Amino acid sequence: MADLLHTAAEEFKAAKEAPPMAAVALLASDREHREMVKTLLPEMWKKSANTEVLRLVAKLQPKDGPEFLLAGWNERTPAVRMQIIETLLSSDAWTLALLQRPEAKSCDAALRARLTKHPKKEIAKQAASVFADATSATRAAVVEKFQPALKLTGNAANGKTVFAQVCISCHKLDGVGLELGPDLRSVVQHDAEKLMNSILDPSAIIEPGFMAYNCTLKNGAQLYGVIATETSASLTLKMAGNLTKSVLRSEIASLQSTGTSLMPEGLEAALTPQSLADLIAYLKTPK
Ligand code: HEC
Repeated sequence: MADLLHTAAEEFKAAKEAPPMAAVALLASDREHREMVKTLLPEMWKKSANTEVLRLVAKLQPKDGPEFLLAGWNERTPAVRMQIIETLLSSDAWTLALLQRPEAKSCDAALRARLTKHPKKEIAKQAASVFADATSATRAAVVEKFQPALKLTGNAANGKTVFAQVCISCHKLDGVGLELGPDLRSVVQHDAEKLMNSILDPSAIIEPGFMAYNCTLKNGAQLYGVIATETSASLTLKMAGNLTKSVLRSEIASLQSTGTSLMPEGLEAALTPQSLADLIAYLKTPK
């Protein structure tokens, strides 16, 4: 039996296709062969990045789990990223390993909140320090330059006009605009400083589902947007102008996360401290 399993393992390693899951799961349930299955996992994951492999990874906890699961991170779609993260969060050691890697920076706002409030103090502390310096130096300078806006009295009516000029291509408020970005009725409670940061430094904290992707199709077409939905066969991208486009996975030549928000940096070019104060007053007015 042991020999048979050993031969099976060698065959799995050599095979082009991922080995049949049922067979691997059977091997994994056998105490004697668990270690061997662990060594197969990186290759299996490379050949087919799916939930079954992830389940096995979570169960067997191979030491190098974070390394091989996070390889090729930029090409992962939001759904797969989510599954990888959930797998890593199944272990405290892996959660810490994740926080020590650059990929942690692409955790969205929901994950950041979850990790900074982690019941294990060590993890919460590490998360707080990793996410504290999410702001780049150039963005910090812009935020600094606009600090005076926080002391000015904003005029909500003027703010509505600014909003119509700069923001409605992505946000809908008071029945005007496109719904490419999140519904801003929910930010009415945010304090002025938080709103200012959201506007001037959008990629510091990205709302779930709004990370931008570059997608190149085999026919040469370039798409840039967020992945709104995905199935095993296709992806739907939401792009500027609120256009949606579904593409078959088989049509995709490459898919790359930009690691940044779909909300662009640089909107301040159209703002002054006063118009930013007006905009903030408008956002804080209950709709
Ligand atoms: C090109 C599209 C685009 C434009 C233009 C844009 N936004 Fe955004 N905005 C987004 C996206 C996408 C998000 C969600 C991702 C994120 O949090 O960065 C977002 C997030 C936000 C948030 C945070 C929402 C939350 O729930 O915390 C605020 C506030 C905001 N935008 C305000 C504005 C304002 C004000 C303007 C105009 C000055 C503006 N946006 C222009 C796309 C855009």
